[in-house]
Amino acid sequence: MLVSRQLGDRKVSAMIRAAGFGDMTAAGEIYVSGHWAAYRGAVPYASLRALNADVEGQSLQGELGKPQSVFLVAVNRAGRVVGFALGGVTDADATLGGLAELHVDRRYRRRGVGRLLTKAIAQRLGAMGVNKLTAVVAKCNAASRSFCQQLGAVEVDHNNTMPVFGNVPDVPTVDLPIVQVYWSEPQFAALL
Ligand SMILES: CC(C)(COP(=O)(O)OP(=O)(O)OC[C@H]1O[C@@H](n2cnc3c(N)ncnc32)[C@H](O)[C@@H]1OP(=O)(O)O)[C@@H](O)C(=O)NCCC(=O)NCCS
Repeated sequence: MLVSRQLGDRKVSAMIRAAGFGDMTAAGEIYVSGHWAAYRGAVPYASLRALNADVEGQSLQGELGKPQSVFLVAVNRAGRVVGFALGGVTDADATLGGLAELHVDRRYRRRGVGRLLTKAIAQRLGAMGVNKLTAVVAKCNAASRSFCQQLGAVEVDHNNTMPVFGNVPDVPTVDLPIVQVYWSEPQFAALL
């Protein structure tokens, strides 16, 4: 699927396709740079520095091919991966999807790639019977919270925290305050 979006004088064309093994190096790099953007100032600098793109790419590789999951990449005209998204059907409710990961290369942010990926995840999960979507966002992640609200999600604050960096050796786990974002049925339908 080739999709384009005109944004003033900025135009981005991205192809959304299923992720494969060959995309995981780029995905690991984008994942690490996404964590810097999302958590800088909210977690110890040393924790961010300890993130390793190869390790994260290998971890993401473990998500490929899972039957109830959708793992997509956005690639530019040169075939380079510029973002990725991972979603799935939640265990508790077969009609509720979860957006587990969404990361866009910092050079391609604010050009519509995140929106394209989220819509593509919603379309594929919709074909699997999903009609609502949720995600967890760190309170400190103003960009992501604004992004989700712009795409129609409603925030609910359950006063919860989320452990991050739990799988990074020699780095303490950090409990970050989070909000839950929800696309209920009409909001999810508007994503399609
Ligand atoms: C959040 C993220 C995925 C958004 O992707 P993106 O491709 O930049 O988003 P889009 O260009 O599709 O943005 C769509 C709309 O969301 C809102 N938005 C996106 N980024 C924003 C920001 N930094 N500040 C305020 N609003 C923002 C805007 O309304 C934007 O529309 P506009 O550019 O026409 O004003 C991207 O910033 C990212 O990868 N961040 C680092 C990783 C991360 O935090 N992931 C989410 C974890 S839950």
